[in-house]
Amino acid sequence: MVRKVACIGAGFVGGPLGTVIASQCPDIQTAVVDINPEIVDAWNSDTLPLYESGLSEMLLAVRERGHNSVRGVSSNEGHCANGLTNCNLTFSTSVEVAIEEAEIIFLCIDTPTKSTGPGEGSALDITNLEAAVRTIARVAKTDKIIVEKSTVPCGTAGTLRDLLKNEANGACHFEILSNPEFLSEGTIISDLLHPSRILIGSEMTPSGRKASDKLAEIYRKWVPDDLIIHMDLWSSELSKLAANALLAQRVSSINSLASICEETGADIDFVSTACGLDRRITRAMLQPSLGWGGGCFKKDIFCLVYLARGLGLEEVANYWASVVEINEYQKARFLKGIISHMHGCVAKKSIAVLGFAFKKNTSDTKNSAAITLVRGLLAEGAFVSVYDPLVPESKILADSTMRLSKPEPGQLQICKTAYQACTGAEAVVVATDCDDFQTPSRAIPRDSSNLNLPPTLNSRHMDERNPGLNVHMRIHKPLDWRSVVDSMQGLKLIFDGRNVLDGEYLRGLGCRYVGIGKRVA
Ligand code: UDX
Repeated sequence: MVRKVACIGAGFVGGPLGTVIASQCPDIQTAVVDINPEIVDAWNSDTLPLYESGLSEMLLAVRERGHNSVRGVSSNEGHCANGLTNCNLTFSTSVEVAIEEAEIIFLCIDTPTKSTGPGEGSALDITNLEAAVRTIARVAKTDKIIVEKSTVPCGTAGTLRDLLKNEANGACHFEILSNPEFLSEGTIISDLLHPSRILIGSEMTPSGRKASDKLAEIYRKWVPDDLIIHMDLWSSELSKLAANALLAQRVSSINSLASICEETGADIDFVSTACGLDRRITRAMLQPSLGWGGGCFKKDIFCLVYLARGLGLEEVANYWASVVEINEYQKARFLKGIISHMHGCVAKKSIAVLGFAFKKNTSDTKNSAAITLVRGLLAEGAFVSVYDPLVPESKILADSTMRLSKPEPGQLQICKTAYQACTGAEAVVVATDCDDFQTPSRAIPRDSSNLNLPPTLNSRHMDERNPGLNVHMRIHKPLDWRSVVDSMQGLKLIFDGRNVLDGEYLRGLGCRYVGIGKRVA
């Protein structure tokens, strides 16, 4: 029976993973550790370092349970680093202590794409991952199961095994497992609670299988056994890259078809629905957009491309690289479309951009298509006003102007409301699929009811007890498109970069609507 686990890395994988393990396994002491005191402090404060639906509720429930245990309701050991409660989840910088105590160590360390040297732009940088494993080799006094959670180049388990062999004193046994995460930003807690599958890759040896079973024991506390799949290390590592590459490929595919629709008068929404209803295809990841973004798709595809090139499989490398190329083409094509609809020139024209994150329900802007869009509009001399409900102003500013000669004073405005951004604009571009932007017939209520959270923990209840913990929680307020259109001027064009608006409705309000892969009426 596993008693203590550690997650090294308190980022968007380690923090939520530790919280879910602590929540679902009250008997397991979970230590989330990071060498960065700022991120640790944030986890121990009322302002969490990331927004994820259901995360603050779950964290609060774990802390509350620990609080009750002090009053004698249960007997979990451990102290939350903020000293407020006694619970089975801690966030701290005590990396070495956590390593010493844990039987299972999850490596949740960022592995960015290399920005210099061989493999620049495509290979993954595993320096920090190796540093963590070196610390394990130095500190560990008992056997450890080390679990790769971070996205890693295929074959990393072998690299880490060699490293441990060379650097550890040989007194304890290390088993490396690959257990990739398939978390989608915005639904991380739901994805962790209700995973489509759990992959556990291990060496095909008795000790490898034993370690794999031990990890499965933790997941079995909340995941059905038939969703836990055991396999070899390479298959598990490759599956992670393959899954993201296939998902990105679907969006690139639907976007490539959207361009055909725009030339022929076909409607991509019909085409997407028609294809998606095929039970073998399904409707997921077939929503056309101005381009996909996020921290994983590009990184994982390039990692796959690098692997294929290294294996001498040039055609395979080119095939996967083309998925990224089509995405770049889509982003450029969308910008070109805006310019062309505005009579070939956007200079000195006011354009509002609604949404800056790479998708809804997140403040993450990594590889967001909105960045390319805003930079492109600024470079063309447009006056751009941007609004995003979750992305901080400083982030929008930094992303929009990076690697760009300074925009003219007043050329870029970051707004506090969508109405402020759209007032006086000749064109409004919806760049993120935020629920707030939907037109009335398409509006989707926002809630976290699919998370199976304890029924007592509704958000009002929590706000009363701990208002700070929910700083990121927002009430869904649909945009009043009539007011928006009334406040616009000149051409009154609405570009729907996500096909989330009802074109008929908007036309009825007196503007021109341009969707992706749609005829412009
Ligand atoms: C992805 C994978 O889904 C997840 O399994 C993996 O662990 C990490 O990478 P994420 O990057 O959070 O997750 O976002 P995802 O929801 O997959 O969307 C990626 C991008 O594609 C976003 O920009 C999104 O807006 C776009 N997208 C998605 C579309 O344009 N159309 C779609 O139909 C779906």
